[in-house]
Amino acid sequence: MADKIIIFDTTLRDGEQSPGYSMNTAEKMHLASQLERLKVDVLEAGFPSASQGDFEAVRMIAKKIRSIQVAGLARTSKEDIDAAWGAIKEAEYPRIHTFIATSDIHMKHKLKMDRDQVITATVDAVKYAKQFTDNVEFSAEDGSRSDRDFVCKVFDAAILAGATTINLPDTVGYAVPDEFADLVSYVMSHTPNIGRAILSVHCHNDLGLATANTLAGIHSGARQVEVTVNGIGERAGNTSLEEVVMALHARRNYLPYATTIDTKEIYPSSHLLAMITGIPVQPNKAIVGANAFAHEAGIHQDGVLKNKTTYEIMEPATIGLEANRLIMGKHSGRHAFRDRLKTLGYDLSKSDIDLLFQKFKELADKRKEIVDEDLEVLVAEEILRVPDTYKLKYLNVTSGTATVPTATVQMEIEGKEEQKAGFGIGPIDATFNTIAKMTGTQSKLLNFSIDSLTGGTDAQGSVTVQMEGGGVQTLGKGNDPDIIVASAKAFINGLNRLAHLKKNSFSRK
Ligand code: KIV
Ligand code: ZN
Repeated sequence: MADKIIIFDTTLRDGEQSPGYSMNTAEKMHLASQLERLKVDVLEAGFPSASQGDFEAVRMIAKKIRSIQVAGLARTSKEDIDAAWGAIKEAEYPRIHTFIATSDIHMKHKLKMDRDQVITATVDAVKYAKQFTDNVEFSAEDGSRSDRDFVCKVFDAAILAGATTINLPDTVGYAVPDEFADLVSYVMSHTPNIGRAILSVHCHNDLGLATANTLAGIHSGARQVEVTVNGIGERAGNTSLEEVVMALHARRNYLPYATTIDTKEIYPSSHLLAMITGIPVQPNKAIVGANAFAHEAGIHQDGVLKNKTTYEIMEPATIGLEANRLIMGKHSGRHAFRDRLKTLGYDLSKSDIDLLFQKFKELADKRKEIVDEDLEVLVAEEILRVPDTYKLKYLNVTSGTATVPTATVQMEIEGKEEQKAGFGIGPIDATFNTIAKMTGTQSKLLNFSIDSLTGGTDAQGSVTVQMEGGGVQTLGKGNDPDIIVASAKAFINGLNRLAHLKKNSFSRK
């Protein structure tokens, strides 16, 4: 029997804490349910002590997710562990994940602690966490740059204190595969009580080696891997879930390990994350990129037509990539509508379906064909959106070669209707300037991208803006057949999200 590899997903913690990927609670809940469908073994839902908003989101996920483990991250302090336990205690299978740095660089410059103090903090934290649950994971942050014997000493102390999973992170993505394999082997053979715990690896992708290092870790005895969907995470990201899982799947002849992942849910998970965050997957991304199964060169196309295995090492259907897109229209029934949403990763309540079905019918009256992207826009605009502080009521823009671009905007601002006109160097600049003036907000636009949801001139324009305000970053999204209106909607959506983040004190420690 192949050895089982435990898949620990940290998309909602390590992934979500990277700039631009912050999600609101409703979005996190949808993604958490999708990760449950994907059948990850452990879902790290967040860092509860980071902010009240994080605490609440982890608590709600822990209450909702029933079939897999839910972990909460904590430093080694009692306050952090209390917060983690407070947030996850209603989970069916809760796990406290506590960590402290073990490298000389981190201990000296960040923690200002010596080795003995780090061992004491580790033991105290694990023992304290054990009072709440048997399922305790300990991580040695910056493990790959730490003194090997010291890491083994800390790990052994953590295991004797009760840790059931021991995690070795390559926090700064510094390791290379042979060296990391050797380090994991060293830990396996020099930690006296390692047999009483599962050894885990957690790799970052700063040198593009996260997946290779993770596979090297498995080869040397790690039986848990910490990964994220689409490889999102701090800086260059974490090990990508889909790469590790599909490497084990496609190369099972060479890598005799099994996971419980439902591979058909890989693409829906990747797509849902991109949709929620508004950050697209790079086209050449392994497994889930738009080009991952596309064959452009004539010789390749010819080969694939003759026999797929000439250039394809896995079937697109294995990761849930459907060959045929389902097109819906005004004759589609409620049942088909609900099923389609479920396939796209949205398992919604009856009242949400009722609301969306009505909006779907309105859209279907105007357009002959409704595709998946249109349905996702409906979900984003009607279900996932944060409560609106600002609403767009009316927009009129004039621009051209011989006129100063001018925008006239009517908005509802905290319940009151207001109207103003303003100028800019282009129609979008004029619109954004006027909205900023009316709302009295001072955000910085970091990025602006425009895309079309489908082909054809009647396609919806989809605008994503990345914004910063009051030290927080967020994304705003807007869709409309008119790209200036789509831009205004995206900007206002970003302002609403910033206002919501501020109100819920999401700003992190
Ligand atoms: O990269 C890292 O070291 C971490 C730990 C908290 C596990 O994310
Ligand atoms: Zn990390």
